[in-house]
Amino acid sequence: MAIIYLNGEWLEDSAAKVSVFDRGFLFADAIYEVIPAYAGNFFRFEEHIQRLNAGLQQIKMDYHLDVPEWQQIAQDLLARNELKNASLYLQVTRGTYPTRSHDLPKSLTPTLIAFVSELPPVYDHEKKQIESIRAITAEDIRWNRCDIKTTGLLANCLLLQQALESGADDTILVRKGKALEGTASNLFMVKNKQVITPPLGQTILAGVTREFVILLVKQLGMEMIERDIPEEELVNASEIWLTSSNKEIRPVVELNHVKIGTGIVGEVWEQVNQRYQELKFNLYRGYFSEIEGIKSNEPKLR
Ligand code: PDD
Repeated sequence: MAIIYLNGEWLEDSAAKVSVFDRGFLFADAIYEVIPAYAGNFFRFEEHIQRLNAGLQQIKMDYHLDVPEWQQIAQDLLARNELKNASLYLQVTRGTYPTRSHDLPKSLTPTLIAFVSELPPVYDHEKKQIESIRAITAEDIRWNRCDIKTTGLLANCLLLQQALESGADDTILVRKGKALEGTASNLFMVKNKQVITPPLGQTILAGVTREFVILLVKQLGMEMIERDIPEEELVNASEIWLTSSNKEIRPVVELNHVKIGTGIVGEVWEQVNQRYQELKFNLYRGYFSEIEGIKSNEPKLR
């Protein structure tokens, strides 16, 4: 039994109920976030809340979340659910309107939902191992505002299912010949020692992990380039990674059933992942990261 936060109340999951007229339910008229916590500390909390607030503005909702207040709710959720390593889900819908109507009703009270679930470790620190993945490519069938983190994710679900049914783990989405991102992750490619990721715009989500990885790569003195990645270039990459808050930096070792590079995790990934894990480990111990250009506002270990 999980304890859920719903509109200021703490409820058992079976008791947490939302109206059928909630616009999140009828129109996916909602913004969400997924934020990881390690040893009770949320990782890059403020950056996630900033993106959520930007998303609310983009869908013309006159509402924003307050970081300290939400940090408290998030910490309470961990405590009430007795979790330390967890994934926090936050969702804000436009609210409930008495009828189904396509216009955007004004002055509704937003519906606020938050819950946590256990986050199993992605990287095995003792064995120094990570589960690598196999991907396929497929035409991106999502809408044209993939920069907005809305709950309208049916296309993402169908595209992931396509991968699973072909024996792979994820799909890299391609639009107009350009490889963009995974179904719930950002895309990086290593070629000729350069680390390359598609530029921000309306076709990808501005991943919090993406931003962090870009800074780590630069800090490690490697060449970091943000440019379009033609699909055919991916096949010849020496490394491909998919990044997200829950997946961290996940190496892709096979694309469309063909090995990428040597077919095992790459050297550049090893270096970048090691640094990522070090910074995460610092967080475990309650240290603020000292990396230049990264704000360190995560709460200290209690
Ligand atoms: N998804 N691109 C898409 C389409 C995503 O859905 C996500 C994250 C990312 C990576 O963003 P970040 O690094 O901020 O987690 C990129 C979350 C994890 C989800 O939908 O569950």
